[in-house]
Parts: sequence; C-alpha cells; structure tokens
Amino acid sequence: MQKKISIEYDVFEHLEDLSSDDRNLLKAAADAAKSAYAPYSGFHVGAAVLLGNGDIVTGNNQENLAYPSGLCAERVAVFSASASHPNEKMLAIAITAFTDQFVTDKPIPPCGACRQVLMEYEIRDNQPIRCILRGSTGQIFVFHRMADLLPLQGKFL
Ligand code: THU
Repeated sequence: MQKKISIEYDVFEHLEDLSSDDRNLLKAAADAAKSAYAPYSGFHVGAAVLLGNGDIVTGNNQENLAYPSGLCAERVAVFSASASHPNEKMLAIAITAFTDQFVTDKPIPPCGACRQVLMEYEIRDNQPIRCILRGSTGQIFVFHRMADLLPLQGKFL
C-alpha cells in the first residue's frame, strides 16, 4: 500500500493582498528582525506571534560565541509568548529575515527544531497555528497549520 501526504498553502504576490492582521504580524516580525543579535551569521531573523487576545509577541535570533547556545527567532518568540501569556492560544506566527550579504527574496521557513516546538503548542491548545513566511521581499507563503509543516505527529498515526 502506498499513501501520500500533500499540503495546501497560499501564495501572495504582494503585502497588500494579505489581511490587515497578517500584514501587521509580518510588519512586527520585520521590526523584530532589526534587533536580532546575529554578529556571527549576519542573518537577521524576526518572528511575531499573534495570540488569541490580539497581543503580538515578537522574537529575533540570538547568537552566541558558543554557537549551540544561540536560539532561532521563532523559538525566542514562541517561548516568550508562552512564558508571558501561558493561557493564550497562539493563532499565527510570521517569520522574515534580512542580511547584508544577499537579498532574502524567498520565504524563510522555520528549522526542524522550531517546527517541533510550534507543533507542541498547536497540539497542547488544539489550535491551528498559521505560519506566514516571507523574505525581506518577494512572495508571501501562508501555511494553515504547523502540522502541515511537520506531518505524522501525535501518539497514533
Ligand atoms: N535562524 C533563525 O532564527 N530561524 C530560522 O528559521 C533559521 C535560522 C537563525 C539561527 C542563526 O542565528 C542564523 O539564523 C543563521 O542560521
């Protein structure tokens, strides 16, 4: 028997094509990227989490001379959101990045570890977390839930 997993996601050409909520969230992520501490990679990532009460919690990548001690923007944002608003569901996360070395004109997808962390909150709260991705320019990809980016989750397949 062969089975197939496929996912659907939306692609937008322009920021103006997004809802104002999604546009605001992406703007918050872009602002957060400006404060990243990324002296080693020069890759400035920003993430913004929209909570059920409308609050937005942001994060950016934090690097360290001892490389593994650093953390991605997504986990900084999500852990901060859960720490400061433990009872609020996460509705969406927007992620973007810029660098001085090249143009990030492709959507910036979260790494595997960040997908795992986001997935756990999605399961805990039984609330799909939408994922809005963009480089510093170019198309915007919108995924409907983290499970689409990390399939075969849960206790039973
Ligand atoms: N980074 C993120 O913050 N998020 C991602 O999804 C990919 C990578 C950071 C980690 C590191 O500080 C820099 O980008 C280069 O990998």
